[in-house]
Amino acid sequence: MKILLGIGGGIAAYKAAELARLLMERGHEVQAIMTAGAQEFVRPLTFAALTGRKVLTDLFAIESAIEHISVAQEHDLLVVAPATADLIAKLAHGLADDFLSTLYLAFRGPVVVAPAMNVNMWEHPATQKNVETLRQRGHRIAGPGEGYLACGMTGAGRLVDPEAIANAIARETERRRDLEGETVLITAGPTQEPLDPVRYISNRSSGKMGYALAEAAAARGAQVTLISGPVHLAPPRGVKVISVRTAVEMRDQVFANLGAAGIVIKSAAVADFHLARVPDQKVKKTAARMSVEFDPTPDILFELGRKKGDRLLIGFAAETQNLQQEARRKMESKNCDMVVGNLVGGSESGFESDENEVVLVLCTGETIPVPRSSKREIAERIFDEVLKLRLALHAAHGR
Ligand code: CTP
Repeated sequence: MKILLGIGGGIAAYKAAELARLLMERGHEVQAIMTAGAQEFVRPLTFAALTGRKVLTDLFAIESAIEHISVAQEHDLLVVAPATADLIAKLAHGLADDFLSTLYLAFRGPVVVAPAMNVNMWEHPATQKNVETLRQRGHRIAGPGEGYLACGMTGAGRLVDPEAIANAIARETERRRDLEGETVLITAGPTQEPLDPVRYISNRSSGKMGYALAEAAAARGAQVTLISGPVHLAPPRGVKVISVRTAVEMRDQVFANLGAAGIVIKSAAVADFHLARVPDQKVKKTAARMSVEFDPTPDILFELGRKKGDRLLIGFAAETQNLQQEARRKMESKNCDMVVGNLVGGSESGFESDENEVVLVLCTGETIPVPRSSKREIAERIFDEVLKLRLALHAAHGR
């Protein structure tokens, strides 16, 4: 692989030399980029000697004014080690005032970030928020480790071992294009069921989990169709988004787009009831109380379960209690291969949050708890397990 090694200005910059050597030993080509701060700690010559290439240091002292673009296009992965608090903030906010930060914006491949800084700087809410932004973007954060820090304090903030960073790079690339050739259909967000021309009932789903799944699948090489209820999220890059409003519209679009999909994930929070006949005019306040009778919406997942053929079908179960039992019950009754169960209703997890904690209930009888992490990381884990499950099912059926 052709790896870009971005080196930030911290005391741990010398450890990046060890990382460069390790990556070369593992057969990669390494192109080092140093910030001005990094060059205060280690001279570019060290990296030039280790990698056999000229180190990129200055946006304006290069042969071509657009070198950062061509360098970005020619490489497969960017690792930033050590990533200082300042560098992390720049990457999170898209500031581009030197070669490394400009290259980062032009780069489309996977990114691994290995933070290193003082423990108080690491724990500062500003840094934590920036790291979370990078995580949500799908970047892998390696470390930091805990221990004695150069500033004399002890705690989180040490650059993790070069070996651990190299392993994080290996994991990132393994997973990188493993959905190439797959077609994935995902539903996301709530549905809105009108009560009259100006009112509707809906639920608290933000769509973040479904969008994270779509982003992850597209990044791993899949053709992705995302059928989305009304949400306030940007369409993920490289994903075909079909916007719908009601459960019936979602059902129609799911079956119209089912075609080549080999993996179908129903993360949408579909309303269970709707008004079969919506009044044409706004309902007036004519009585002290009113009651409304709802009819059931089509259960899209249930219908899919009956027609799924060779497809892998993954449902969601948002529960306020008895998570595992309910997830397993839904998996069986809707003929799914996996159900992702998550607890909702609490303050920390579920609908609007950027993070979640889920349990994966599989048709093989296995139950896999996934600890609290970003929705993007949970999405990646779901695809890891879906691919494993498919292999297990093929083996079991001798296909
Ligand atoms: N689902 C669906 N169509 C519906 C309702 C639900 O496709 N009309 C799907 C959801 O997308 C989700 C799964 O079914 O993948 C479980 O949704 P949930 O609302 O938790 O389950 P319900 O079957 O509605 O069960 P209950 O409301 O009793 O918990």
